[in-house]
Amino acid sequence: MSTPAPDVVRSAYAQLAVTDLAKARWFWVDMLGFHVQYENADSLYLRGTDELTHHSLVLRKGDIAALDHLSYRVRTTEDVDKAEKFFTELGRPVKRLKKGEGTVGVGDAVRVVDPLGFPVEFFHEIERGERLIQRYDLHRGAQIARLDHFNICTPDIPAAYAHYRSLGFGCSETIEGDEHELYAAWMYRKQTVHDVAFTGGAGPRLHHLGVATHESHQVLRTADIFGALHEEKHIERGPGRHGVSNAFYVYLRDPDGHRVEIYTSDYYTGDPDHETYRWNVHDDRRRDFWGNAVIESWYKEATPVLDLDGRQQPVSSSLLDESAVQVGADGLG
Ligand SMILES: [Fe+2]
Repeated sequence: MSTPAPDVVRSAYAQLAVTDLAKARWFWVDMLGFHVQYENADSLYLRGTDELTHHSLVLRKGDIAALDHLSYRVRTTEDVDKAEKFFTELGRPVKRLKKGEGTVGVGDAVRVVDPLGFPVEFFHEIERGERLIQRYDLHRGAQIARLDHFNICTPDIPAAYAHYRSLGFGCSETIEGDEHELYAAWMYRKQTVHDVAFTGGAGPRLHHLGVATHESHQVLRTADIFGALHEEKHIERGPGRHGVSNAFYVYLRDPDGHRVEIYTSDYYTGDPDHETYRWNVHDDRRRDFWGNAVIESWYKEATPVLDLDGRQQPVSSSLLDESAVQVGADGLG
């Protein structure tokens, strides 16, 4: 590889295809409190209270529920060119989108199918949004502050780790077997625990989007609101405390089954000598610090992903199955 990797700043937004835009709006806007920055007949462009860019989530009407693409912001316009060269040199499908050809609010961008099979975009330019941080009068529902991370299902975790290392990502935490075989990894560019994490399983599929609140009481409030409205079926797992990342969490499923994690209280990783923290796969605290069982749907179910032409991509099955490891915290195996 002679082409330098693009300088990725952070995970920036995801675009999901949803089958019923009105139902999706109820879930993401009314219940979670995302702000509508822009909308048209078949799409919603949403952001959290702390986000100063145009959107962190795009919901578009589709025939099937799927991930359209994940998107990373890069530092300069030259990094968009670098991304195009980097993935072309890898022999991956690459599509250049001039401003106006791609997502509303986003400038010149490159979309690729990465070596893991995921549709991924790299862009620099994006429109700004009004500052809502102190518009407390507009903070509703789960009071989502910002997008935090993507979690993707992939059958080959070492390959995923190697790919994101080649893009300059650091590794904050891992789950490893007794022989240091890699079951999962959390990787970052911004100075938090992660921008992307890998869950071993059939892939490419999107496991979940992680969205941040300021405090743990907002995670509890989210679960209470779903319960109060007798919409508890949308709560899949938690609330709880993760071992990995130390975050307080609850996992929800939207009306199409897309999974979202409401996530708060992880930690700073920006020092240059920050070391990877390694969990053993037999440590019952890794997925839930209090040892609560992880339900089977959380390990097995995920969102299919599209290719650059909008076709659903086939999946390959996993090389290692963390849920089959004989450990009490999973309640499986
Ligand atoms: Fe997560």
